[in-house]
Amino acid sequence: MTGPTLTTTERHRRGGSFARISVRTRITAVIALLSTAAMAGAGVLVYTLESARIERQTSEQIDQEIAEFRRLQGGDDPETGEAFTDVGRLLDLFLRRNVPDDDEILLAYTGADDEPSRTVNRNAEEFLTEPAYEAAVADLFDQGGTEVLESDAFGEVWVTVLPVVNETTQGSLVIVSFLADEHDEINQTMQTYAIVALLSLGLLVLLASTQSGRLLAPLRTLRETASDITATDLSRRIPEQGNDDITALTRTFNVMLDRLEGGFITQRQFLDDAGHELKTPLTVLRGHLELLDASSPEDVDETRELLLEEVDRMARLVGDLILLAKTSRPDFVTPAPTDVAALTETTLSKARALGERTWVLDATAEVRADLDEQRVTQALLQLCDNAVKHTGPGDTVALGSSYDEGRVRLWVRDTGPGVPAADREQIFERFGRSVVPDGDEGFGLGLSIVRAIALAHGGSVRVEEADPPGARFVLSLPARTDASGPATTTQTMEVPLWPAS
Ligand SMILES: Nc1ncnc2c1ncn2[C@@H]1O[C@H](COP(=O)(O)OP(=O)(O)OP(=O)(O)O)[C@@H](O)[C@H]1O
Ligand SMILES: [Mg+2]
Repeated sequence: MTGPTLTTTERHRRGGSFARISVRTRITAVIALLSTAAMAGAGVLVYTLESARIERQTSEQIDQEIAEFRRLQGGDDPETGEAFTDVGRLLDLFLRRNVPDDDEILLAYTGADDEPSRTVNRNAEEFLTEPAYEAAVADLFDQGGTEVLESDAFGEVWVTVLPVVNETTQGSLVIVSFLADEHDEINQTMQTYAIVALLSLGLLVLLASTQSGRLLAPLRTLRETASDITATDLSRRIPEQGNDDITALTRTFNVMLDRLEGGFITQRQFLDDAGHELKTPLTVLRGHLELLDASSPEDVDETRELLLEEVDRMARLVGDLILLAKTSRPDFVTPAPTDVAALTETTLSKARALGERTWVLDATAEVRADLDEQRVTQALLQLCDNAVKHTGPGDTVALGSSYDEGRVRLWVRDTGPGVPAADREQIFERFGRSVVPDGDEGFGLGLSIVRAIALAHGGSVRVEEADPPGARFVLSLPARTDASGPATTTQTMEVPLWPAS
């Protein structure tokens, strides 16, 4: 209840700055973002897997060198035919026999502060003078193991030290593995990948932008047309192309315009008709007043009588118009459990005042149903009023009700001329009067009120041929019935109820 109240439009306009960006831009941005994330993710994954592969490969290489050395160590000295006694000689022999890979240096130390007894291979020997290398070898001299170094000139280098000891002598085998070349290779690949990914991304964004633009074009047309359409010109329609959901939206929009246009036309027509109907009694009033001879009491009396009649007629018209205006309101009918038999009987006794006819109760539905008693009575009285207007003193007007399959039927039957088949739809329209000349001075609103009451109950009204000949108007209303009352229809004998004794 507290806090500022916003109108719907205001609330719709508040969407933050994001809402102001066009859908096309948003779609493109989302696609660009997702693609970038996917491509970057793929790149990172490839890089990580490749790096892991290099490390595994290098480890395997080192393991292989060590295994080869162990094999030699476990065998006999080919010169003596006995086990190796001198570590220096064992290492020497291993280095002589072993051809290192391109990215590898094999070295043998026979004392902690010795110069390496032999180095093999490669123009990367300057690495051996780097202090980091010397420190690593000193570190690992006793325990052995692998240390990873990062050299400015040589990139990533692994230094593996394998201590070799026997009873009298000791030394160590050092394997230096250079990973820079492999890393260079991955970096090269990643660079190529980045360029390809960027180009694909550009292409994707371009495609996304043009495609979303193309897909959303009907939406733009829809918006433009909608803003062009004003309340006074509802004749424009949006072209429907294709068969997708946007076309469906366009179609829905066009159907809505059809309905709106229809509604406006009916409203205009209604106002036009109502204006004309109101004008006639005013003209009559004016004419009589102009011709009134104020000095003649007889004339004054006569005119007064006539004018009161006209004013009554006008009041009735205005009353009907107000009632019709109310029909679209949700509270136009308020259904409540109603005794249909009692309703039929009371309406008949009220209708008897309308004129001297043979009033008959055809049948009554012994059921309680959810109906708006007042409105239904009003509708039946309108029908009785019409029946009286279209019959003479000798004629019969009958009322009845029945209940069948969840529908309450209420009818008014007369023995008048009936309604020609061609007019049976039109008479229910507002100001719809039958073309049959019958000297009737109605407005043609009665039946449209009846129809509005039927529709408000979710039912319908129609006119049919009666037997004996005449008109029979039937209100058919779906109604939830009360379990307390049996759903039966009592046939009543034709008993003239008018004139009342
Ligand atoms: N019982 C009837 N028998 C023959 N024609 C009828 C009967 N009831 C209605 N009609 C025809 O239907 C037309 C429309 O009826 P409706 O009640 O809407 O208007 P109205 O009676 O002419 O005017 P209002 O009811 O507004 O005073 C009538 O003009 C009449 O031609
Ligand atoms: Mg009428």
